[in-house]
Parts: sequence; C-alpha cells; structure tokens
Amino acid sequence: MFNYKKIGQVAFEGSFPSVPDITSLPEVAFVGRSNVGKSSAINTLLNRKKSARVSKTPGRTQLINCFALDQKIRLVDLPGYGFAKVPVAVKREWGKMIEKYLLGRETLRLVVVLIDSRHPMQKMDLQMINLLKHNGIPVLVLATKSDKMKRNALQTNVQNLRRDLGIENAEIMAFSSLSKNGFDLAWQKICKSAGLNKSSKKKE
Ligand code: GTP
Ligand code: MG
Repeated sequence: MFNYKKIGQVAFEGSFPSVPDITSLPEVAFVGRSNVGKSSAINTLLNRKKSARVSKTPGRTQLINCFALDQKIRLVDLPGYGFAKVPVAVKREWGKMIEKYLLGRETLRLVVVLIDSRHPMQKMDLQMINLLKHNGIPVLVLATKSDKMKRNALQTNVQNLRRDLGIENAEIMAFSSLSKNGFDLAWQKICKSAGLNKSSKKKE
C-alpha cells in the first residue's frame, strides 16, 4: 500500500538525457514553463527539501529526472519550456525529447501541468494541454505560487484559467509549494490516476 502522507523511500533513479529505459512503475510527469515551480512542487509533494533541484535561474532542470516512491509510483521532473535564454537549437532538442517522452510513454498515467496562478493563460501552456488531451493523456493543471496571491484574486484567476481551458478539458486547482495549498487534492488525483487507491485513511 502506498500512503502519500508517509512516503518511506524516495529513490532517485537518475537524470536521463533522453527517454528513460525504465518502465516498471506507473508514472506521473511534471511539465510547465521554466521557473514555474515544477521541481519545488515535487519536493513539496515528497515532503523532502532537496530531492529535485530548485533554482532561481530558469532552465535549471535540463534532463529527465526520475524518482521512485516506495517502489509504487514514479514522479518525473521534466525540463521547462519557453525559457528565452536557451539557444534555439537546444530548445528544439528539449522540445523533441519532451514530446517523445510524453506521447510515447506507455507507463504515463497523468501529466501535471504547472502554470503560474498570477498570470492569465499563456499560449504555450494551452498548446501543451491541448497536445496532451488530443493524445488521450490525463492532465491535472496546478495553478501554482498561490501563496503570492490574495484569496479573492486567486479565485478569480483560477476561474478564468478554468474557463480558458474549456469545460471538459482538464482539472485545475490552486497549489503552492510554500504553503502546501492543494497538497492533498493534488496527491488524491495523482494516486487515483496511477491506480493507487488506498492512498490515505480517508475515503475519497
Ligand atoms: P526549471 O527546472 O528551470 O524549469 O524550473 P522549475 O519549474 O523546476 O522551478 P523551481 O522549482 O526550480 O522554482 C523556481 C523558483 O520559484 C524558485 O526560486 C522557487 O523557490 C520558486 N517557487 C517555486 N514554487 C513556488 C511557490 O509555490 N511559491 C513561491 N512563492 N515560490 C515558488
Ligand atoms: Mg526544475
């Protein structure tokens, strides 16, 4: 049984320059623009400070980083997209690699798309979400850094983002790696998608 509130073992399986050759576990991948907080979100969900590398410099995560939790589920930290300072050729390579991973991964059960809760929907994010949905891949959108917003403004922004996503397009919830807002809801969705139903004592 896997309990996200009591994760025993976090095994760092490696940083891969291309699609990893390990397929033993159900996988949940984290994508989003550079600096949006993917690595921070993974650390928060793991209740660990430094499993995934966090940085003030966008473009920090350049490889596919894999974490196996209690040998039950794998979280995958992907490089961010849309970072202007990366040379075009490198960006294209990352894009190809990420797309190859996302669209060809049999073990992938859910893609968590992180967007910044302070901003309106960005074209790139919508493109990513549409690409995933068109390929039948379940998506959870986390509107992150919610700690930086006042409650009412956050609600309005999340509503607007939800509207822009389209009704049946994706689930969206507010999240913060700092305050842990959305922690339980995000985990519940992750566990359900990965087929780990006995995720906590509470019934869903
Ligand atoms: P790349 O790997 O470069 O694509 O970035 P990333 O998406 O993994 O972002 P990362 O987790 O490295 O965080 C980027 C910056 O945002 C860091 O300075 C974090 O401390 C900050 N940050 C991330 N999540 C949150 C959050 O929920 N709230 C606040 N206030 N800051 C956050
Ligand atoms: Mg990162």
